Amino acid sequence: IMPKPLKGKKVLITAGATREFFDPIRYISNASSGQMGYSLARMAYILGADEVLLISAPTNLKKPYGVNLINVISALEMYNKVMENINNFDIIIMNAAVADFRPAIKSNQKLKKDKESTTLNLEPNPDILKETGKLKKENQILIGFAAESENILQNSIDKLKRKNLDFIVANDLSNFSRDFYEGILISKDGKKIEIKENSKEEAAYRIFNLFLQQI
Ligand code: C5P
Repeated sequence: IMPKPLKGKKVLITAGATREFFDPIRYISNASSGQMGYSLARMAYILGADEVLLISAPTNLKKPYGVNLINVISALEMYNKVMENINNFDIIIMNAAVADFRPAIKSNQKLKKDKESTTLNLEPNPDILKETGKLKKENQILIGFAAESENILQNSIDKLKRKNLDFIVANDLSNFSRDFYEGILISKDGKKIEIKENSKEEAAYRIFNLFLQQI
């Protein structure tokens, strides 16, 4: 029988790549597949969480069994759904790849190719993880991800402090769109544990086990 270390806990997870539209069909987004977030949600259910809520930006993935899914598109929508729900959750894992900026104007009509070149004005999106860190209560655990292309360790430690996290999973951009997963779990007291697994499913299992040992 599978042990149920998450029994009594409610887990909220964000996943996917947000889309920031600037006309009815065009948007800014990124290459995150959402696989890690969905694997974490599936694993949270398997490990016995009382409730798993996955707030997901668009992906090509199916809803994991046993998980409640809220679909959102933009960072602003994701921010609103997270804010509506965070008070009900014990463990909050932000894995979504959220656009830092959104187009300042969304045209109701499809933009025309009537110029030689053009520019797009952007304005900042809320940092969902940082806002959650500010609101975090004593009994809540907040875990972030950091996808970095350079100075992985230092940038991730800075992020963990700046955003008031309990843990951060630091990984290299090379994890995007592949099965093999390589990262480092860093705790707020500075412990670093390597994660090297053959799939994101196994990485999700290891991440839960590692941080459950420390809380
Ligand atoms: O984009 P960045 O590398 O700073 O993301 C680090 C963490 O912050 C990730 O866990 C991501 O889900 C979260 N994040 C967020 N809202 C943003 C930007 C990032 O929740 N606007």
